[in-house]
Amino acid sequence: MRIDIITLFPGMFAGVFRESILARAVAQGQVKIVLHNLREHGLGRHRMVDDYPYGGGPGMVLKPEPLFSAAEAALKEMSEELGAEARIPVILLTPQGRPFSHRVAQELSHLPGFLLLCGHYEGVDERVRQHLATDELSIGDYVLTGGEPAAMVVVDAVVRLLPEVVGAAAGEDSFVAGILEHPQYTRPTIFQGWEVPSELLSGNHEEVAKWRRLQSLRRTWERRPDLLSLAQLTSNERRLIERWQAEAKRARQPGTGGSGSPQFPPGQELGQPSQEQ
Ligand code: ADE
Repeated sequence: MRIDIITLFPGMFAGVFRESILARAVAQGQVKIVLHNLREHGLGRHRMVDDYPYGGGPGMVLKPEPLFSAAEAALKEMSEELGAEARIPVILLTPQGRPFSHRVAQELSHLPGFLLLCGHYEGVDERVRQHLATDELSIGDYVLTGGEPAAMVVVDAVVRLLPEVVGAAAGEDSFVAGILEHPQYTRPTIFQGWEVPSELLSGNHEEVAKWRRLQSLRRTWERRPDLLSLAQLTSNERRLIERWQAEAKRARQPGTGGSGSPQFPPGQELGQPSQEQ
């Protein structure tokens, strides 16, 4: 796979792509990552890449010419390497984009390559969205100073799905089966008095698998109930969740002393250890 990135700040990527699993994937030739400095396509003696917004307002807007020129150069190189018939998506990173998810990462991981455009300042000229980008992705409902951290997130999530990058581990990820991953433990079996659940020490694969599935379900129900409607669950599992729901409802009723549904969002504040049960 080849991933090209157009950015005003190529230096930001150096550490990320030179460390850990991404560096190994690059070294093994699983992925080639090519950075293009937008400044090199800037206009005039000052290599201008941004300008004031028409109609007024704060901040600067990325001009269309440098982005189109950088993208054309990148796409030419990419199709020479990947073949003229390869469909190469041009993806603008922006908080207004389609939400990035495990499913989108999977879609991208099957492509021979794609081009990422990192926006900056107040945004990019609308003609870039309309006539250059084929897709727009957002990594969450918050605004970053630029698309670079978002590009790193997309590259990381996609590359780890390539064959042999993290191997079988990717199959157990949160979201793969539409629900969150089960808790993980390693040695020692007792740390500061806190024990590893006995089911995991049993050596009985069936018991381990059953415990993990139950924990995944419970965790998803507590933290991300929104995922459950689309998850692949057995009818027994659906009934179990209905029981948890009924119990939580009962606990919420006045006089029962319950604190209500144990859902993770939006109740828990940062810095508080979660209430494991
Ligand atoms: N650029 C700025 N904020 C962003 C976000 N949330 N996702 C993707 N790109 C962005």
